[in-house]
Amino acid sequence: MAASSRQRSTIAIIGLGNIGGVAAGCLRAADRQDIIVCVRQPIERLYLERPEGDVEVPLRALTNPADAKPVDWVLLCTKAQQTPSAAPWLARLCNSSTRVAVLQNGISHVERVAPLAGDAVVVPTLVYYNGERLGADRVRLRHVAEHDLVAADDADGRAFAQLLEGTPLRVLLSREFSTLAWRKLLINTVANPITALTLQRQAVFRREDVKALCIAILEEAVAVARADGAQLAEDEAVKTMSTLLTYPPEAGTSMYFDRLAGRALEVEALTGAVVAAGRRLNVATPLNAALLTLLRAVSDAASAG
Ligand SMILES: NC(=O)c1ccc[n+]([C@@H]2O[C@H](COP(=O)([O-])OP(=O)(O)OC[C@H]3O[C@@H](n4cnc5c(N)ncnc54)[C@H](OP(=O)(O)O)[C@@H]3O)[C@@H](O)[C@H]2O)c1
Repeated sequence: MAASSRQRSTIAIIGLGNIGGVAAGCLRAADRQDIIVCVRQPIERLYLERPEGDVEVPLRALTNPADAKPVDWVLLCTKAQQTPSAAPWLARLCNSSTRVAVLQNGISHVERVAPLAGDAVVVPTLVYYNGERLGADRVRLRHVAEHDLVAADDADGRAFAQLLEGTPLRVLLSREFSTLAWRKLLINTVANPITALTLQRQAVFRREDVKALCIAILEEAVAVARADGAQLAEDEAVKTMSTLLTYPPEAGTSMYFDRLAGRALEVEALTGAVVAAGRRLNVATPLNAALLTLLRAVSDAASAG
């Protein structure tokens, strides 16, 4: 008993929203590691609805970074724009033996998080599951793809996959991580901005004029992705649009819900990443730059309000 408890590794989950809530509930229910959640509001129990059967788990929560100690793994589950606010947590949780898995959208996980993580290793991941925080102590997991997360097929990615063994979260290890990251960003490059700016759910993509605009936005992003080394199909923009059209018309997007709620938008990690990479790689992105200006104006007004 004492020996096995000594072997349990420690995981700190920063941000108990849609994604962090599901990760915390799944890991706590599997009970293979010691889990703490780093939150702004205290919480003692979490109810997780999941296809494998609902569970209610006790949580050990910290609300003050000063109470945190170094852990084996950090799962960073804030929105990308909230990453700087997690710096005090990362400073206390990380040492040279820590790995920080970043469960955020975008392509620049390492650049975003490494400056805040000291000597820790940053492990980028792509999230495919749908998480929904239904209330203060309730979250729902939906599987929407064959895998729930993707990590690079290297030593750190494999260690991340092992961490989630015994949970319902299935990790795909891929040698094409950066291509998959770009593919996911392509969807987000149209799905999020268009729903947020039009304040319409995904039914808006059934309009022929919106479809044509989306293809043009995607063509720009695909050119940037190729210049960045992504291995994409000839007709990647059209394929991406076809994928988007398989989603239910009544589905929203996280940027749409953030705009409805008057919250800041995850704009720099999505459209901002395309425009920044275009500038770096000398690929013109006028449509994405126009979207970026509008989204920044919306997001800044929300932050100021
Ligand atoms: N939702 C999905 O199904 C989905 C799917 C794929 C990818 N993603 C990506 O996953 C990432 C996380 O998204 P999400 O939907 O989980 O966002 P979210 O629901 O907004 O959750 C973020 C959580 O982080 C917390 N937080 C922010 N700063 C913090 C800090 N300094 N200390 C402690 N907690 C902090 C927030 O707390 P407060 O509530 O106090 O603000 C919130 O609970 C994003 O990059 C998103 O694009 C989401």
